[in-house]
Amino acid sequence: MKPLPIIIDTDPGQDDAIALLLAAASPELELLGVTTVAGNVPLALTTLNARKVLELAGRRDVPICAGADRPLDVPLVTAEHVHGDTGLNGVELPEPTLALDPRHAVAFIVQTLREREAGTVTLCPLGPLTNIALALRQAPDIAARIRRIVLMGGGFFEGGNVTPSAEFNIYVDPQAAHEVFTSGVPITMAPLDVTHEALTTAARIEAIRALGNRVGGVVAAWMEFFERFDEQKYGQDGGPLHDPCVIAWLLRPELFTGRDCNVRVETLSELTRGMTVIDWWSVTGLPVNAQVLRHVDADGFFGLLTERLSALQ
Ligand code: RIB
Ligand code: CA
Repeated sequence: MKPLPIIIDTDPGQDDAIALLLAAASPELELLGVTTVAGNVPLALTTLNARKVLELAGRRDVPICAGADRPLDVPLVTAEHVHGDTGLNGVELPEPTLALDPRHAVAFIVQTLREREAGTVTLCPLGPLTNIALALRQAPDIAARIRRIVLMGGGFFEGGNVTPSAEFNIYVDPQAAHEVFTSGVPITMAPLDVTHEALTTAARIEAIRALGNRVGGVVAAWMEFFERFDEQKYGQDGGPLHDPCVIAWLLRPELFTGRDCNVRVETLSELTRGMTVIDWWSVTGLPVNAQVLRHVDADGFFGLLTERLSALQ
């Protein structure tokens, strides 16, 4: 079967980094490029981190393009308290030698979608949706050319993780999220409701460390740093491994369950800014615009991740 062409838009972040490694190690996917956005940490750091991670993955063939350094219409909010001051705290990676592609992320997304056969490229946003919204604004024709947008973001049954009602990626740029969810592009959404089931327990981290390769040690160290915030907050063993759920769904959709829903994004209210209002019980009669993932086979997910990481150095 031909590999699935994807572009990952990301704000690394340890969980983004692990998603990048999973994609890089999976021959079912053709990683056309990585685009970076401000989110967990400012753009300069998310871009440096993306270069470090692709170098670690041995994927110097993949173009990396820097994108938006702030949301569309609100000040940037970052998450160093979760990811650390570099965004990849937990282990020190060497300065990358892998060069940055000079194209802006939005130009790269538009160019790639126009050059590739319509309906073949999947976009995988793992951070705020600013780059995706900008691309749709600048080139409305690409909406019909995107195969699907598979994103990590939002929440409903689990509430929010930045405010009681909003998840970080959506909270940072609610207007961008609104424009993506109303774009008409097919969407698969991995909200907190599913990612909170993918917990980095001690046993799962040990299995990754036991791989014995450099990547296994790095990923285990990232997980141990990244989980501490959520372990303290939620009082459980392990933290939710959000972004790799996007890549795992592409590889093994049968690990996940969910349903088609109407999803709207709050952009105006101070109290509920960035809330994803998921019509799980179809009470609004509004049209479906997203496939919402609700549960994951966590053992199957970590088994897949561990097996793929074993293929890297
Ligand atoms: O709320 C979790 C999301 O916000 C993840 O994508 C994490 O990397 C941060 O970007
Ligand atoms: Ca992210």
